[in-house]
Order: sequence, then structure tokens, then C-alpha cells
Amino acid sequence: MESDIAIVSMGLGHLRQVIDLGYQVFDTSAKPYTSWSLTSVAEHLDSAGRSCWVAVDSDRVVGFVLASMEFELRDDWAYLEWIAVAPDMQGRGVAGKLMTACCDTLFEHGARRIVTDVELHNNASAAMMRKNGFTEGTTVTLFVRPNPDEALTEGDDQISLSPGTKRDLIRRGRITGDGRHGRAKA
Ligand SMILES: CC(C)(COP(=O)(O)OP(=O)(O)OC[C@H]1O[C@@H](n2cnc3c(N)ncnc32)[C@H](O)[C@@H]1OP(=O)(O)O)[C@@H](O)C(=O)NCCC(=O)NCCS
Repeated sequence: MESDIAIVSMGLGHLRQVIDLGYQVFDTSAKPYTSWSLTSVAEHLDSAGRSCWVAVDSDRVVGFVLASMEFELRDDWAYLEWIAVAPDMQGRGVAGKLMTACCDTLFEHGARRIVTDVELHNNASAAMMRKNGFTEGTTVTLFVRPNPDEALTEGDDQISLSPGTKRDLIRRGRITGDGRHGRAKA
């Protein structure tokens, strides 16, 4: 790893660069969806059990990881939701350093397990998770049955949401502000 890259706790001053890096590297076309948005980052920073770290090279954010002690209804499992390294800095162990800081903190918070999910074709992420002590658990496949009576055109799998539902989903980071889903997980 480059000696001048430091792993530091993420603060508000890193927000703009973290958002931009996420938009640069996350594949927003793959499924299953979760969203990458200001809301989803802010929710991690707001979480009491957060473990959010950035890799910085001078003033440049070259990687980040966002995790928290919030996984479904379990108080003792943590969820590592987002990790990214700038393309020109990949393959140098930056993600490994971020994972160490992140997971150490989650275990200090009392996590008995750390859960993450990896999209089927994201081989780099799967290999990186294995390298950092994660093993495969349950596999979930999104099965989809379209309504044969609906004349669906390509890309017409958008759903119409009431304004209240939409606001709630945006607030919870499940969709982006324009109603689109985000990229595939890890
Ligand atoms: C996944 C990702 C974070 C890895 O970051 P990185 O800094 O390059 O990872 P590291 O250098 O720490 O690599 C650690 C291990 O991961 C594996 N790995 C990393 N990149 C890989 C690739 N392209 N192909 C296969 N394995 C890879 C290797 O086992 C590697 O160990 P090794 O170098 O000793 O062989 C980075 O590729 C990335 O940002 N991808 C796009 C965003 C993304 O998909 N994030 C996950 C979704 S939240």
C-alpha cells in the first residue's frame, strides 16, 4: 500500500468526494438494487453504531467504507453496505486497510457477525471479502415474473409510487430522488 495513504474516520468534510467516488464506481445498472444517494450516506453518518472510514491521499479521498450496527432487526449483527476504491488506486491493498478499520470498530461496538452482500458478477468484491475473512452465507436470487397482460416496453419496470411512499423510500435510501434504484450491492 502507498505509505502516504491514511485511513481516517469519515467526517462531513469528506461527503462531497465520497458521493462523487460512489457515483463513479458503483454499477447502477445491475440488480439487486439498493440506492447510492446522499441520503444513504447521511444515514450511515447519523447512525450511533456507525463505522465509516475514508482512505485519503493528501486531501483526496481515494476510498471509503460505510457500515453500521444496523442489520434488519438484529442488534448484534452489523451491516457493511458500501465500499469503494478509486480505479487508479485499486489493487494496492486500500480496501483491505479500510476493511480492517471498519470491522475492528464494528466488533468493538459489539457485533457478533458482520454481514455484507455481493452481486453475483462482482468478482473483485467477492474476492476482496473472502480475503478479509468473510465466507459465503445464504444466497438470495431475485426471481421475477412479469405480468403477461402488461405490454411492457424495455426499461418499463419502473413502478409508480405515491408521493408519501416515495418520500419514505428516499428517506430510507432505498431509491434515489428521481425514483430510480441504484447500483447492485457490494
Ligand atoms: C472491490 C474493491 C473495493 C477492491 O478494492 P481494492 O483496494 O482494489 O482491493 P485490495 O487491493 O485491498 O484487494 C484485496 C483483495 O481483493 C481481491 N481483488 C481486488 N480486486 C480484484 C479484482 N479486480 N479481481 C479479483 N480479485 C480482486 C484480491 O484477492 C485482493 O488480494 P490480492 O491483491 O492479495 O490478490 C474495488 O475493486 C472497487 O472499488 N470496486 C468497485 C466498487 C464496488 O464494486 N464495491 C463493492 C460494492 S459495495
